[in-house]
Amino acid sequence: MKLTRFISASAVQKRVAELGLKINRDFKNKNLVVICVLNGAFMFCSDLIKHLKVDVEIDFIKLSSYRNAKTSSGKINVLKKLNCEIYRKNVLIVEDIVDTGLTIKYLINLVKKHSPSSVKVATLLHKSDVSNIDFKLDYVGFDIENKFVVGYGLDYAQKFRNLKGIYLMN
Ligand code: IMP
Repeated sequence: MKLTRFISASAVQKRVAELGLKINRDFKNKNLVVICVLNGAFMFCSDLIKHLKVDVEIDFIKLSSYRNAKTSSGKINVLKKLNCEIYRKNVLIVEDIVDTGLTIKYLINLVKKHSPSSVKVATLLHKSDVSNIDFKLDYVGFDIENKFVVGYGLDYAQKFRNLKGIYLMN
């Protein structure tokens, strides 16, 4: 398996800081609950929240989708549920990547059931040619082509999450 450099660690950090600024502007004087989608978003989320100057609570949710493979089973299960109160709160879902959009659609619906004040989405990567979503993603790090990528939290069979940059897998 060969990895090809795709987005450098410094480009990732620069973009994450830009997204942080934007979120600070949008949520000025508002409460915010950040929902980090495990496992893939852990690195992005931890870097992103360091830039936030708003009052923020963090919670984690874990879903199953890509089980040691490059293709989705299409079926989503909740492996770790939310523990925080999101009723009448502003929620920001933090994802690593939106591919087909199935996971993010599922999550938004799940969050909306708890009657939050608002729901927004931050994703580091978006495969916009592939995703089938009828809404706008609020904060997108990079729009990428339909290739399988690893690094900066993203894995292939649980490997490569520790890489600082993002790599194409050939
Ligand atoms: P979706 O439901 O098809 O949008 O897929 C979302 C999830 O699939 C992400 O949160 C990732 O965990 C995983 N995924 C999709 N594309 C990639 C990729 O290129 N590399 C690593 N994981 C991916």
